[in-house]
Amino acid sequence: MREKQARARELKVKPTVLKLGGSVITHKEKPLTPNLPAIKRLASEISRANVSRLVLVHGGGSFGHPIAKQYAIEKGYKDQSQIIGFSKTRQAMIALNKLVVDSLIQHNISAVTVQPSSCIITKQGRIQLMEERPLRKLLEMEFVPVLHGDAVLDSDKGFAILSGDQLVSSLAIKLNAERIIIGIDVDGLYASDPKTDLNAQLIQHATPQELRKLQHKIEENKVTDVTGGMLGKIMELIPAVEKGIQAMIINAANPDNVYKALKRERVSGTVIKRGETVA
Ligand code: IPE
Repeated sequence: MREKQARARELKVKPTVLKLGGSVITHKEKPLTPNLPAIKRLASEISRANVSRLVLVHGGGSFGHPIAKQYAIEKGYKDQSQIIGFSKTRQAMIALNKLVVDSLIQHNISAVTVQPSSCIITKQGRIQLMEERPLRKLLEMEFVPVLHGDAVLDSDKGFAILSGDQLVSSLAIKLNAERIIIGIDVDGLYASDPKTDLNAQLIQHATPQELRKLQHKIEENKVTDVTGGMLGKIMELIPAVEKGIQAMIINAANPDNVYKALKRERVSGTVIKRGETVA
């Protein structure tokens, strides 16, 4: 009886969607190079936090982006020479995903890969169709589904790159998530690029309206990334935030930040919430 009640309570818990950015789990400048110590540490933090109903998404970093760029996958199908590039991009993401999921399982997390390209079709790069029933069932059974940015089929362009960030936002809405945590390799959203501007100011709180206003400034950061760099990443979260889901951007390269965010402990970063800015 008590077990049944606990299970019923568990099912009422709204999911948390956590993204591990490619810049944290790979060495972004070296093609096909995982950051194994970071993957291991993050798996250990996720295991220690022991959060119920967790959905994980990871980025592509130096596994996804260089190949996708080489074959211009994000531009859609233009000629036959790109076809092999689509296969290579998919395979690189599978390789990175295996490292992540292996590490999670080693840390006793019941992680199960859900390959986005097998259950999602985009239209002009935007998610058009997503079969989410296996995902819901996995969550119900207390598995930790692991998805990733991917090369997907596109009903207009033939194929496209689906970023982990668009995926996070869409999953959070569909699964009625409570919160989104995005782990990247800087402390959050800055008014200018913290990697080149020593005086860059960290934005601790922002609303979608403020983000739209900032869009211009952030564009100046010019992060090279086939999915639009930091600007694209943050703006992707707006649809979920507008539905009342809180998003938090934190530095996952700093030990214990992901653990603390999962445990709702204070972590410096950027919180994006609907409504008024909290001072
Ligand atoms: C990119 O995913 C996936 C591919 C290029 C295939 P993301 O855009 O989410 O990856 P990161 O986090 O920026 O590396």
